[in-house]
Amino acid sequence: MHAAALLLVSALCSATWALDNGEMRVPPMGWLAWERFRCDLDCQHDPKNCISENLFIDMADRLFEDGWRELGYVYVNIDDCWSSMKRDEKGRLQADPQRFPRGIRFLSRYMHARGLKLGLYGDMGTHTCGGYPGTTLDDIALDAQTFADWEVDMFKFDGCYSNATVQEQGYPLMSKALNATGRPIAYSCSWPAYQGGLPPKVNYTQLGQLCNLWRNYGDIQDSWDSVLNIVEWFSENQDVLAPAAGPGKWNDPDMLIIGDFGLSMDQSRAQMALWAIMAAPLFMSNDLRTISSGARSILQNKMAVIINQDPLGIQGRRIVKEKIGIDVFWRPLSKNASALVFFSRRNDMPYRYQTSLGKLNYTTGSYEIHDVFAQKTTTLKDSTPFVVSVNPTGVVMWHVSAPAKWNRRPFRRGGGRRGNAIPPVFL
Ligand SMILES: *[C@@H]1O[C@H](CO)[C@@H](O)[C@H](O)[C@H]1NC(C)=O
Ligand SMILES: *[C@@H]1O[C@H](CO)[C@@H](O)[C@H](O)[C@H]1NC(C)=O
Ligand SMILES: *[C@@H]1O[C@H](CO)[C@@H](O)[C@H](O)[C@H]1NC(C)=O
Ligand SMILES: *[C@@H]1O[C@H](CO)[C@@H](O)[C@H](O)[C@H]1NC(C)=O
Ligand SMILES: *[C@@H]1O[C@H](CO)[C@@H](O)[C@H](O)[C@H]1NC(C)=O
Repeated sequence: MHAAALLLVSALCSATWALDNGEMRVPPMGWLAWERFRCDLDCQHDPKNCISENLFIDMADRLFEDGWRELGYVYVNIDDCWSSMKRDEKGRLQADPQRFPRGIRFLSRYMHARGLKLGLYGDMGTHTCGGYPGTTLDDIALDAQTFADWEVDMFKFDGCYSNATVQEQGYPLMSKALNATGRPIAYSCSWPAYQGGLPPKVNYTQLGQLCNLWRNYGDIQDSWDSVLNIVEWFSENQDVLAPAAGPGKWNDPDMLIIGDFGLSMDQSRAQMALWAIMAAPLFMSNDLRTISSGARSILQNKMAVIINQDPLGIQGRRIVKEKIGIDVFWRPLSKNASALVFFSRRNDMPYRYQTSLGKLNYTTGSYEIHDVFAQKTTTLKDSTPFVVSVNPTGVVMWHVSAPAKWNRRPFRRGGGRRGNAIPPVFL
């Protein structure tokens, strides 16, 4: 595929320029507190759900015991509201003594003993978004060293209560300061989410040299509208965003809300499929203690995870946007394989979408198709028309293997296809 070759070249060229800390060669996977648990401080009346060490221990135990860790879900990430309202007498950040009585290093070690990793949150500004102590330019070196001393593995740097000038200095300084600690700490920058503009006024080359991942856009909420809005924004801006991603540097459309309250099963499969094909970080924000088996099986779908974690690290794109409300996304994978997502934005009934691999610009050949959620396998020639039935606000996701037989004739676009004469295969 012509487009694949071009993308591959650009991915390989830019890969050399990723932040050189060895972290996140594939998109990170794990769990993050924010969307589901927010800034719940009421440990007296809501002890199971408040932001305290118990919550992170509970989630770590679930990741460790319920088959998540083996799939790659290894990060347990603390978000806002973990710290004390005051720095200590030496000016260092400190965890809230009531809610985190054993401190952050205890949690890091708890994670490490189980093959997991700990992520922590801070803010490039005077305060965090929740009003806790922020990191001003003067605090950067000390805070980076504190995180390293606590054996933290990932740091998310939010951008409330600051301005463009401060951020322009602070985000690069923190990257340097984390590196100077000598501890590999993956670095998540919320910087572009605060820069805004359409197309975004962000230097993604620079960002890829400073950060391992970055939030480009607003926070996800527990609703299908929110997912749809994010997907639309990422697709509309894909020409800027997709080339910025690669091993060690990822666009972050925000957390997976599968297993919460806002998504149906079809919508949950859609979020999983779209995040996988966009090479997005897979940070769940849900309650792993009570998650339904349906939501769990979507999040633990092996083929979806394999597609997300493909070592080439090329971010997929929307290649078709039909007026009737069907989108097709495509992502090139290693070993000449690829992934396709047929996505319905419709609200009526399962839509029977007809196309062919040839129409999607696949070269001549015979391909093995694995349906990721139906778990069925078929073989399709590029010229064979097929029909996929896509549920409203749902997806059909395919892993497409390399063609079994290469036709050595050069690929000619357009003319010469007689696909319409062949009756379609209904899949
Ligand atoms: C710090 O940066 C240097 C140069 O880019 C790199 O070789 C080294 O691995 C980095 N160290 C850490 C701990 O990130
Ligand atoms: C940005 O914030 C810094 C620190 O609070 C302040 O000194 C500076 O004047 C601000 N710059 C602008 C353009 O608002
Ligand atoms: C973007 O950042 C890169 C790397 O830091 C730099 O070389 C380039 O000049 C920047 N581009 C613009 C338009 O500022
Ligand atoms: C990928 O496809 C090319 C033809 O485009 C072929 O030469 C190469 O051997 C294939 N690689 C793999 C790993 O199948
Ligand atoms: C297929 O390639 C042609 C020519 O480059 C392009 O115009 C068309 O948009 C492509 N279609 C898809 C689905 O990528």
